[in-house]
Amino acid sequence: MSKRILLLGAPGAGKGTQSKRLADEYDIEHITTGDALRANKDMETEHGTPREYMDAGDLVPDPVVNEIVDAALSDADGFVLDGYPRNLSQAEYLSEQTDLTAAIFLDVGEDELVRRLTGRRMDPETGDIYHTEFNMPDDEAVEERLVQRDDDTEAVVKDRLETYYENTEPVIEHYREAGELVEVDGEAHPDEVFERITEVVDA
Ligand code: AP5
Repeated sequence: MSKRILLLGAPGAGKGTQSKRLADEYDIEHITTGDALRANKDMETEHGTPREYMDAGDLVPDPVVNEIVDAALSDADGFVLDGYPRNLSQAEYLSEQTDLTAAIFLDVGEDELVRRLTGRRMDPETGDIYHTEFNMPDDEAVEERLVQRDDDTEAVVKDRLETYYENTEPVIEHYREAGELVEVDGEAHPDEVFERITEVVDA
């Protein structure tokens, strides 16, 4: 049966970096609410546009996000879910939709999170993730087209972390109390972190 992996962690913990690799490794879908919302930032909903929330570091309202996840889950056999659930009501909604092979928490300290987020750059053509200090592309043409996400400025990063502590830490606690959470130290080279995660998934 295909793997159904939940990857939890603070902004900048490496969820996107590792999810892409896991999707390739296990031939499963990468479901990311963040990317889906960025692709539809100016979509009008009855709650306003996703941009209004994202650029302030707030959560986009549940009905908008649940609809995205619903559609993605119904199309996927196996998946790695990145960026969802982010509050307890989303966690409850998810448990009604599917069960999981593994719920993994990528543990990274706050100083490292801020360093990773403010140095992150994205390739708008491929969605590949880079970092100004330790992971830039070899290809100059790719380097020239890299962009910084609107919400990776220092001020918005601070707000995103506050939103995470308030809303998403209780989700992590929820899976921990249920005995469903495996915690992985995310402060190592991405290859090493990937190895730690696959050991959990394969166990
Ligand atoms: P989203 O896009 O999900 O952002 P996030 O959770 O804040 O996570 P990030 O994408 O910032 O970080 P990441 O953990 O993926 O790290 P990455 O691998 O890129 O959400 C954005 C916004 O959308 C939210 O603020 C909210 O408004 C809205 N939203 C999304 N989902 C929602 C939901 N469910 N409900 C409501 N609203 C929602 O790595 C970061 C950097 O570190 C990169 O530069 C990378 O190269 C580097 N790096 C990665 N791993 C390592 C390593 N091991 N060592 C050194 N550097 C590393």
